[in-house]
Amino acid sequence: MTFAWLSVLLGSVVWLPGARSLQNGLALTPPMGWLHWERFLCETNCERNPKNCISERLFMDMADQMVSEGWLDAGYRYLCIDDCWLDRERDENNRLQADPVRFPGGIKKLADYVHSRGLLLGIYQDVGTKTCEGFPGSQGYYDLDAQTFAEWEVDLLKFDGCNYGTLDQLEDGYRQMSVALNRTGRKIVFSCEWPLYERGIKKINYTEVAEYCNSWRNFGDISDSWGSVKAVMTLSSAVQEELVPVAGPGSWNDPDMLVIGNFGLSWNQQVTQMALWAIMAAPLMMSNDLRDISAESKALLQDKHVISINQDPLGAQGYRVFKADNFEVWEKPLIKGSLAVSVTNFYEIGSPRNFLLSLSLLWKKRVCRNSCFITRLLPSYHKYGHLNDNSLLSLWINPSGTILLRMD
Ligand SMILES: *[C@@H]1O[C@H](CO)[C@@H](O)[C@H](O)[C@H]1NC(C)=O
Ligand SMILES: *[C@@H]1O[C@H](CO)[C@@H](O)[C@H](O)[C@H]1NC(C)=O
Repeated sequence: MTFAWLSVLLGSVVWLPGARSLQNGLALTPPMGWLHWERFLCETNCERNPKNCISERLFMDMADQMVSEGWLDAGYRYLCIDDCWLDRERDENNRLQADPVRFPGGIKKLADYVHSRGLLLGIYQDVGTKTCEGFPGSQGYYDLDAQTFAEWEVDLLKFDGCNYGTLDQLEDGYRQMSVALNRTGRKIVFSCEWPLYERGIKKINYTEVAEYCNSWRNFGDISDSWGSVKAVMTLSSAVQEELVPVAGPGSWNDPDMLVIGNFGLSWNQQVTQMALWAIMAAPLMMSNDLRDISAESKALLQDKHVISINQDPLGAQGYRVFKADNFEVWEKPLIKGSLAVSVTNFYEIGSPRNFLLSLSLLWKKRVCRNSCFITRLLPSYHKYGHLNDNSLLSLWINPSGTILLRMD
């Protein structure tokens, strides 16, 4: 299938995949891994909370879990540090340094450990004068900090936007850091928050964002709640004409972390987050405690059928095609003319509700023209078999739950 043909099919959502994406050859499918923020925040008191404080111990524990518990095999490869790893000051040569008490071995030693386990290491900095939690930011030191990360053999940089100064400084800082990372010669995935800080203030030039970043956040931080997951879906679909066209291999919209396996989401809501993050071609960055996670959440996060929707090599971001009567239908074109479809029930009361999915509703009526094979991936795997364009698929969907299908 050619991209031009696809963009005709999509009509209003014109999809021109990664046409001018950042040319570092990285993140050709959405990055997968683990990021500390949502679950571990900025806990720096290791005396009071030794197991959960932001320290090399936490990351070494997670690295061990990622390898021994099947996460790496499932595709979760990037182990990512968020804010609060830094010392309060740069060193005498203006170089960044990790907090010496919590990271006694320094970041290079941690990177060596992570690499020895077959994983990759992500780190965090900020385009402004200070990080969001008040640690030294990169403004004025873009080249030096990029070199430092390359010397430490870091593989991904999440670059926040707090304390950026003016919008010109924000944009310029992101451009400069992207160029600085390239100059190091090391392959480092560049995860930006540029659009998040511009949204509502000026029109975001996504063409340019995609030229400098491998992924970018558009909305505020996710939290461990159904309200937050719903808000991401609502915000994403509201501006899908803006977001969907720019996604593709090397360039991804980032709706923020998977909070599956924590405290806030019911089973059905966890299914909804997993299904929709797959449909949205989102980076799959879990933020949870891999040392303490239920078998159900683990199986959901490691579901290879769902992950293959997210990691589909076509790299198309899915979008909402239907919303009525508290149901939403989203679809995501897959390679070789296949399609992933989700149906979510937002009626948060009562029993499972019936939805009759008309196959002709989907993909501008191009799907299942003769006949196609329908498989349900979530909430549990089931083969429906062959259906044709005139079929109606009868689905029963739990309140705040989702059914995820693939059509081949
Ligand atoms: C730097 O950019 C050039 C040109 O876009 C690209 O060919 C090269 O692979 C990049 N190098 C790194 C390390 O990202
Ligand atoms: C957006 O950025 C692209 C690439 O840098 C540039 O060619 C284009 O003119 C910009 N568009 C606007 C409206 O500024």
